Amino acid sequence: MKNPFIVGRQFDPNSFLDREQETAYLLEEVEQQGNMVIYGTRRLGKTWLIEKVFYELAKQKEFKTLFFDIQQYPTISFFISDFVNKLYQSSSFEGKFEYFFKKFLPKTHTYFSISLGPIKFELHTQNNNDLYQAFVEALQIPEKLSSKKKYVIAFDEFQEFSVIDDSVIPIFRSQIQHQKEASYIFAGSRESMLKKIFFSKNAPFFKAMKQLHLTNYLPLSSCSKYLSKSFYNSGKKISPDGIETILNISKGHPLFLQLLSRRAWQKTESICDKDIVEAALTDELSTRRYEYETLYQCVRTKEQRIVLFSLAMDDSVPFSQEGMNRYGIVHPNSLNRAVSQLIVMDFIEKLDRGKYRFSDLFFKEFIRRRML
Ligand SMILES: Nc1ncnc2c1ncn2[C@@H]1O[C@H](COP(=O)(O)OP(=O)(O)O)[C@@H](O)[C@H]1O
Ligand SMILES: [Mg+2]
Repeated sequence: MKNPFIVGRQFDPNSFLDREQETAYLLEEVEQQGNMVIYGTRRLGKTWLIEKVFYELAKQKEFKTLFFDIQQYPTISFFISDFVNKLYQSSSFEGKFEYFFKKFLPKTHTYFSISLGPIKFELHTQNNNDLYQAFVEALQIPEKLSSKKKYVIAFDEFQEFSVIDDSVIPIFRSQIQHQKEASYIFAGSRESMLKKIFFSKNAPFFKAMKQLHLTNYLPLSSCSKYLSKSFYNSGKKISPDGIETILNISKGHPLFLQLLSRRAWQKTESICDKDIVEAALTDELSTRRYEYETLYQCVRTKEQRIVLFSLAMDDSVPFSQEGMNRYGIVHPNSLNRAVSQLIVMDFIEKLDRGKYRFSDLFFKEFIRRRML
C-alpha cells in the first residue's frame, strides 16, 4: 500500500486538511478578480493552500491557473523565459507559436530564441533595457489572454525577486495594478522582506491588496480524524494513544504532522501505537542529528538556552519575577535580547502577547530529549 502521508511540493487533495476559511477567502477574491498576498512562516502550508485553491478553481471551467516559485530562478531572464513558456503552453495558441510570439511580445520577440522539440522560448538579451522591456511585455500577457478564461497566477516566495533584482518590483506594480481580468496571488515566508515590498508607505498598490497572514496550525479534531481515516483506508490502524502522541508532538503543525505520521505509518505492521510513534520520532531526529547539533552550537548565551529550555518544556519564557529568580536572571533585558536573537536565528517565532513557539517542532523535541 502507498503511504497516505505526503510531504513536499506534490500536492495531494486527499491529504489536505482544513484551511476552509482561508480557501474560501482566497476563492472569493479570485472570483472578483482581486489580487492578494499570503504571508507567514515557512512550512505552515502557504504553498499547499495555493495548490488547494488552484485545485478548486480547476473544477470551474472559466479559470486558468499558473504557479511560479521565484526561488527557482537564478536571474530575471530565467524567470521571464519560463513565464512566457508557461503562458504559451496554457493558451489556445499551442502550435501557433510564431503568431503568439509576435502578437504578445510585439517589441521584444526578437530578444528570444526559440528551440523546437517541445517549443521553448529563451530570452537571450544581455542588455538591461531590453530585458526590462521584455519583462513589461511578458507581464501584460495574462491580462490579454484573460478574455476567454481568467488567468490566476501565483508567485510563491515573491520576496526572492528582491534578491535577484530589486528593480523589477516597481515594474510589477505598474504592470499589474491596472489589470482587470487576470488576478495574482503573491506568497512568501520572509516576512520582513515582504513587509518592505507590500506594506511600506510608497507601495499603495500592494498595500491595498487583500492580505492573509497564515499563522494557525491545523485544528486537532480534524487531524485526529484524518489520522484514523488515512491509516484505515491504507489497510492499517492507529490506536487512540498513537493519535494522541502524534498530536502532542506535532500540535497540528501541517509539516510535522505529515512527517511524523509518514514515518510512523512506515514502521507500522498493523496497528500504530504510542511506542511506534516515539520510535518514528527517534528516527526523524537521528536523520537530522548532524543538522541539529550544528544548530545547537549557534546557541551562544545562557539566556538563549533558558528561553529554548522553557519553550521546549511547553512553558512560557520566564519573564515573571518568579521565573527570573528560578533561572538566576538579573536583567530582564538580557532575556529580551535572547528572544530577539533566537527569532532572527529562526529558532523561535513570535505569537501574540509575549508568546513564542519553536519554528521547528522536531528541533524542539531534540532539545527536550537532550535536557531530560
Ligand atoms: N492543509 C494541510 N493539510 C495537510 N498537510 C498540509 C497542509 N498544508 C501543508 N501541509 C503539509 O506541510 C508541508 C509544508 O507545506 P507548504 O505548503 O510547503 O508550506 P509553506 O509553503 O508555508 O512553506 C506540505 O508538504 C504538506 O506535507
Ligand atoms: Mg512554500
